[in-house]
Amino acid sequence: MSGLLLYCRGGFETECAREAESYAFELGIDTEAEALPGGGAVFLPLPEEAADELAALPFFRWVFARQCLRVIGHVGNLPERDRTGPIALAVPPAAYCELWLEAADTEAGKPLLPFCRKFAPYLEKALIERKVKLGSPRGPRLHVFFTDKQTAWLATSEPGNASPWPQGIPRLRFPHEAPSRSTMKLAEAIHVFLDQQDQQRYLKQGLRVVDLGAAPGGWTWQFASRGLKVTAVDNGRMDKKLMAEYDVTHVQDDGFRYRPVKPVDWMVCDMVEQPARIAQLVAKWLAEGWCRRSIFNLKLPMKKRYEEYLRCKALIQDTLRKAKVPYRLRFKQLYHDREEVTGYLERRE
Ligand SMILES: C[S@@+](CC[C@H](N)C(=O)[O-])C[C@H]1O[C@@H](n2cnc3c(N)ncnc32)[C@H](O)[C@@H]1O
Repeated sequence: MSGLLLYCRGGFETECAREAESYAFELGIDTEAEALPGGGAVFLPLPEEAADELAALPFFRWVFARQCLRVIGHVGNLPERDRTGPIALAVPPAAYCELWLEAADTEAGKPLLPFCRKFAPYLEKALIERKVKLGSPRGPRLHVFFTDKQTAWLATSEPGNASPWPQGIPRLRFPHEAPSRSTMKLAEAIHVFLDQQDQQRYLKQGLRVVDLGAAPGGWTWQFASRGLKVTAVDNGRMDKKLMAEYDVTHVQDDGFRYRPVKPVDWMVCDMVEQPARIAQLVAKWLAEGWCRRSIFNLKLPMKKRYEEYLRCKALIQDTLRKAKVPYRLRFKQLYHDREEVTGYLERRE
């Protein structure tokens, strides 16, 4: 059994499968991805060589997949009395940096997590007895993914090209002084789209930000608490404490009409609107030179979500190509996104 195992948000298996199939198609392979029982994960069958090639695709290119793993085996009908034996037998005796036991982030997967925790030391012992080396600094990570207590998928990931979090779920602290839970979306987006160096360069004190659809101020807080100057555009009310403590100007205006007096470093947008309108707005801000970079959220419709994501991406690309603006564009369905994807767009030097 070879191919890719992809973790995704429960309910987004179709989008994740479509995305995986499209990457396989770029390699000239027509294959059909299948959602695993219980949801939240997708298997893309591929010949060995193609599986290696696709597993090496830069992880940032995956939009709907939270994690991308190279499948190395599958075991079913695990006996209750000895689950470790068949799994240990199926793992190639090589060197791995770590062992992660995982399950999907879904209703079906949740009850399996305590089982994974309890089972891990027994499996580790059985693997070591089978001459599997764990803790090797250069080896891949070994994942054992359970869809139920009788069925496990065995897979690997390269730590430099995969999500660094078990289940692909970032463990970020909720800052209690932030005025809304939406703040977590931007916190995660910053983590996903900007490396440490970019964060130091682009999130430094004194830079200017326009936040469209800012109220009550969770996104604004992420910038303001780092010392950036924020213009918060929203007809709704901003959090009083945030306004009193930080350098934030509230403008009560329509986010589609508002224009900055002079170019700003960032425009971020979390307005609840048709995604294509947001995509056009973001592209316009960059094409006109009103901002250098943007993080924006696209609320996807109930139906044809994958098509809508592709349409929005194409809208941005077309506008910027016509304007001859060099740019970098990325999307990710973040853990903190619901029926949404988050985009990052920057004007290249
Ligand atoms: C999801 S909330 C934003 C939450 C905010 N990012 C936070 O972290 O607290 C969406 C906001 O967009 C605002 N909004 C929707 N359409 C707008 C428009 N055309 N112009 C300005 N604001 C708009 C709403 O008033 C609402 O406050």
